[in-house]
Amino acid sequence: KSLTIGLIPADGIGKEVIPAARTAIEALGSDIPNPKFIDLIAGFETFTRTGVALPEETVEVLKNDCDCALFGSVSSPSRKVVGYSSPIVALRKILDLYANIRPVVSVCILSLVHVDMIVVRENTECLYVKQEQQTFGEHGKEARATRLITERASTRIGKMAFELALARPRKHLTVIHKSNVLSVTDGLFRESVRAVQTKDSRFEAVTVAEQLVDSAVYRLFREPQIYDVMVAPNLYGDILSDAAAALVGSLGVVPSVNAGDTFVMGEPVHGSAPDIFGQGIANPVASIRSAALMLRHLGYTEAAHRIDNAVDSVLREGQLLTPDLGGTAKTQEVTDAIVKRI
Ligand code: NAI
Ligand code: MG
Repeated sequence: KSLTIGLIPADGIGKEVIPAARTAIEALGSDIPNPKFIDLIAGFETFTRTGVALPEETVEVLKNDCDCALFGSVSSPSRKVVGYSSPIVALRKILDLYANIRPVVSVCILSLVHVDMIVVRENTECLYVKQEQQTFGEHGKEARATRLITERASTRIGKMAFELALARPRKHLTVIHKSNVLSVTDGLFRESVRAVQTKDSRFEAVTVAEQLVDSAVYRLFREPQIYDVMVAPNLYGDILSDAAAALVGSLGVVPSVNAGDTFVMGEPVHGSAPDIFGQGIANPVASIRSAALMLRHLGYTEAAHRIDNAVDSVLREGQLLTPDLGGTAKTQEVTDAIVKRI
C-alpha cells in the first residue's frame, strides 16, 4: 500500500517550505513508492476566509485517509480574535499527538559548539489547555490561566523520553521542571517521569539528571554539549527548543514531529516568519528534516537517512545557504540541491 500524506502548509512561509518537503519525499523513488499527497487547509488565512481555523473536513481526512501529515506554520495573532484558536494546538489534542520530539543537532561549519540533543516536549497540556479568564478585582483587571499537569500525560511523555534516550549512545535524560516554585504541578511532572524508570528495568541503563528550567537555559548556552535528551512540560519545552535552535544556526534548520500512538505529524519548529514571507528565501531545511523525522518514526529508516544525508551534505558544502544561515540562496535553489543529492 502506498503512503498517504496530508499536507497542511497553513500560513506564511509554511506555504513555501511544505512544498519543498513534498519534493524531497517524491525524490525517494522506490524507498517510498507512489506516495499520495492530500492538500488540506487550516490556519489564520483559512479563518479569515471561512470563519474556522481548522475545518472539520481537514480533521476527518487526516483521521480517515492519511497515514501521516506535514504541517507548516500558522500566523496566530498575539491579540485575542473572537472565534479564533490555533489549529496546530487543536490538532495535537484532537489526534492525541502527545509528544513533540525536536532533535537539535549542529552542522559543523555553522555552529561554534557541538550540539546533539533531543528536546521532548509534552504536547497536550500545561498552560496550553488555554483556559484563561479575565475578571475585575479590587485593583482592576486580573487574568488567570489554568496549568494542567496530569500523571497520565507526564508518564507517557516520560516513557517516550526514556525510549529515545535508551536508543542513543549517551543514554542520558534531563528532566526539566521548576518544582522549587511550582511544587504541585511541576512536582507531579517530575515524579511521574522519574517513576517511569523504576517500573521498567530496561531504563536502568539511562542516567537521569534534573534541572530547573531557568538554569537549564543558562547551561544550554554555556555548555550545550552536556545535554542528550531533555524532557519538559509543554511551555518549557517550547521555549527550550527555540533557544536550542539558536545554537545550531537558525530556527530554519530545526525539525520536529508531533507523535502519538497511532499518528505522526512532521512540523518545522519555526513559525510563519511574516518578516520574510513572500521573498522566496525561507530555509526549507527544517521542513525537509521534519519529513525525514516523520518517515523515521513510521519505520522508513533508509528513506529518512537518505534525506538527512542529502541535507547534511548541502549544509556542509556551505555553497547554498539561505540568508538565515548567512548565505544568499533561495528556498528553491536549496531544495533543488537537496533533491538532487537524494
Ligand atoms: P518565527 O519562528 O516565525 O520567526 C522567528 C525568526 O526566525 C524570524 O526572524 C524569522 O524570519 C526566522 N525564521 C523562522 N523560520 C525560518 C526559516 N525557515 N527560514 C529562515 N528564517 C526563519 O517566530 P515569530 O516571528 O515569533 O512568529 C511569527 C508567527 O508564527 C506568529 O503568528 C506565531 O504565532 C506563529 N508561530 C507559529 C508556530 C506554529 O505554527 N507551530 C510556531 C511559532 C510561531
Ligand atoms: Mg515555538
